[in-house]
Amino acid sequence: MSADARREGVEPRSSSERRETKRPESAGVPTRVAVIGGGRMGAGIAHAFALAGAHVIVVERDADAAAAASVRVLDAVRRSVERGTTTRTVDEVAAVLEATADTAGLAGCELVIEAVPEERALKVDALARAERATDAGTVLATNTSSISIADLAAALERPGRFLGMHFFNPVPASQLVEIVAGPATETALVDRARGWIEALDKTPIVVRDTPGFASSRLGVALGLEAIRMLEDGVASAADIDAAMELGYRHPVGPLRTTDLVGLDVRLGIAEELQAKLGDRFAPPELLRRLVAEGHLGRKSGRGFYEWSGQ
Ligand SMILES: NC(=O)c1ccc[n+]([C@@H]2O[C@H](COP(=O)([O-])OP(=O)(O)OC[C@H]3O[C@@H](n4cnc5c(N)ncnc54)[C@H](O)[C@@H]3O)[C@@H](O)[C@H]2O)c1
Repeated sequence: MSADARREGVEPRSSSERRETKRPESAGVPTRVAVIGGGRMGAGIAHAFALAGAHVIVVERDADAAAAASVRVLDAVRRSVERGTTTRTVDEVAAVLEATADTAGLAGCELVIEAVPEERALKVDALARAERATDAGTVLATNTSSISIADLAAALERPGRFLGMHFFNPVPASQLVEIVAGPATETALVDRARGWIEALDKTPIVVRDTPGFASSRLGVALGLEAIRMLEDGVASAADIDAAMELGYRHPVGPLRTTDLVGLDVRLGIAEELQAKLGDRFAPPELLRRLVAEGHLGRKSGRGFYEWSGQ
C-alpha cells in the first residue's frame, strides 16, 4: 500500500487509455474478467480492463454497493471521454460492464481479481467463493498490498491457479503492476498474467511472495530513512525531498510521499516489515509521535508538510 498513493497526480493520464490508441483493441486482454469489490481499486481495475476491450463483471457485497460500483466505473470512463483520451463512449462501456452481488456470473471468466478490503478473513472468504463459482481454467488473483499469497492460497482448492496482481492507486494513471508468485503458483500463470498486464499498457514486474513485495519494501525503507534524517536534523523535509527529486529524479520525495500515502498507513507497514524482516524497518520515534498526535499527512491536513486547504 505504501507505494500506492505516491503516484497520485504524478502521471498525466491513463496508461490504459494510452494503450487504446497504440494497440489493436483486446490484444492479449482476457475476454471476460471479474473484479470482486468495486471500491477505489476494484473500480480502477474494472475501468482499465473495460477500456481495453474486456467484458467486465464487478461483484459487490449487495445490490446497493453493486450499483455504486457501476457508477464509480462509468464516472471514471466519463472523465476519460471528457479528457479525450479514449475513443470509447460511456454507453459502449456500460454495455460490457455488469455489476452484481451474485457470484454466478463468474462462471466462464478467464480472470477473477479480488479487491475487497485488506482483511485476511474477508479475502479468504471472497476467494473461496470465487473459486467455487468458477472452473479449473479460471485464474484467481488478489490485489492485496501486504497479505502473503501463500497464506491466502492455503484456503483454496487450486492454489496453483492463484497469484497476486498488485495494481497501484490510482489505477488508470499508474504504470506498475506487481505480479506476485506464491510458492504454489504455476509458472505458466505468471507469463499469462504478464501478457495481460502488458495488454493494459502497464509494466509488470514479477516478485516472489515476500513481505512488502518489491514496492512497499523499498519505498518504506527509503521513507523511514528520510524520517530518521529529519529526526537527526540532517536537513529540512523540503531539502531531504529535493535531494531525491533533483538528485535522483524521483518524481516525489520520500517525505511528501509518506504524507500522500498516510503516516498511519506507513507506520502499519513498517511494523509489519519489522516483525517479518527485522529492526531495519523499526518505525522512527518521530513517525510514531506524529501519528499519535493525529498528523497523518494530506488527509488530516498536516504531516511532514502543511496540507490544509489542499
Ligand atoms: N487504496 C489503495 O491505495 C490500494 C492500492 C493497492 C492495493 N490496494 C488493496 O486493494 C484492496 C482494496 O482496496 P480499496 O482501497 O479499493 O478498498 P475500498 O474500501 O475502496 O473498496 C473495497 C470494496 O470491496 C467491497 N466489499 C467488501 N466486502 C465485500 C465482499 N464480501 N464481496 C464483494 N465486495 C466486497 C466494498 O463494498 C468496497 O466497495 C485492498 O486489499 C487494498 O490493500 C489498495
